[in-house]
Amino acid sequence: MSFDFDRPVDRSHSSSLKFDARQAYFGRADVMPMWVADMDFAAPPEVTQALVARAEHPVYGYTLYPESLYQSLIDWCQRRYHWSVKRSDIMMCPGVVPSLHAAIEALTEPGDKVIAQPPVYFPFFTAVTQTGRELLLNPLKLENGRYSMDLDHLEDCAKAGARLLLLCSPHNPVGRVWQRQELLDLLSLAARYEMTIISDEIHADLIFPGQTHLPLADLTDSVNVLTAIAPSKTFNIPGLGLSSLLVPQKNDRKAINQVFDSWHVSAANPFSITAYEAAYRHGEAWLDALMIYLQQSLASARGFISHELADIDLIEPEGTYLLWLDCRQLKLDNQALRTFFIEQAGVGMNPGYVFGDSGAGFMRLNMGCPRAQLETALTKMAEAVAQIKR
Ligand SMILES: Cc1ncc(COP(=O)(O)O)c(C=O)c1O
Repeated sequence: MSFDFDRPVDRSHSSSLKFDARQAYFGRADVMPMWVADMDFAAPPEVTQALVARAEHPVYGYTLYPESLYQSLIDWCQRRYHWSVKRSDIMMCPGVVPSLHAAIEALTEPGDKVIAQPPVYFPFFTAVTQTGRELLLNPLKLENGRYSMDLDHLEDCAKAGARLLLLCSPHNPVGRVWQRQELLDLLSLAARYEMTIISDEIHADLIFPGQTHLPLADLTDSVNVLTAIAPSKTFNIPGLGLSSLLVPQKNDRKAINQVFDSWHVSAANPFSITAYEAAYRHGEAWLDALMIYLQQSLASARGFISHELADIDLIEPEGTYLLWLDCRQLKLDNQALRTFFIEQAGVGMNPGYVFGDSGAGFMRLNMGCPRAQLETALTKMAEAVAQIKR
């Protein structure tokens, strides 16, 4: 079966955050929307068919999580990662971000120290601060265009008393797919300090050739690893809101359940369970085609940036559809850089500083769109940069 990722889908006026919040976020409704992390591609046809079939049953009452839903995740992890997920470990939650909040509330006390590794998906910070915990930053190191973890500094955080780390694997926004040795070194440190890790693996399935995503929990028997995983990014269904949190320890599950119950978020939604299961069961061919398309888009962007945007360096992504652009040579401060791309290029991206101070001077460009749109956005950026160089 072939999938047409080049076909533009008009998302404006569909209450799409990426399209319809442009005026509010950028102050201009006409910027090219290259920001929020969803893609502009139609979801796998099997997902749409399953949703249509469910919609044709005209009763949308209270819904439970069927056993077949859990099994679809278990089968997916086995097939894609040779990873045996236990049915009893799986908890369901509308989103990964609420899962992070719930796990932090359940596993730590107010005032406890929790570590995040910036530049990182910004709700990692608020999940810590909004729950009244203390955020410790363990910035990634950038050397020769490649990010890595600073384990010496992480050890200082552990010595300062932090017992919980939020890991982003693969990493948004820097695009790293952590390698086995990096993860083993992290686990050995975590074991020494009895540190629990919440591994956000929402981007796990979006991996470029030559890379392998390794589920952290599958690499250890001694460290308590909770894993957040979802079909939402993989199959472009994040608006439907359903994810899983894999929690190996019974006491932790009990505590997290109490938080979920207190928020009344434990009920399922007839459409989200339908899409979740259809995606994991029938979406694989679509995903494989998507990754070939994204790989070609990446090649096109890489070539264009190196020839036409010499003042911008692409941090080579190993996974995700997000490009992390080092724009520090433009020598613009945070606000000026953001405004420059909005006003001069007409391209709406996420400014790097929102991912933490070490993101200053960077921009995050979402390439999950038809390639022609990506190429137009890059051309507009090159024209704008050429203007300031004059
Ligand atoms: C690392 C990471 N975690 C979580 C999310 C959002 O998850 P959810 O929409 O399920 O809360 C995103 C979205 O961009 C993300 O990049």
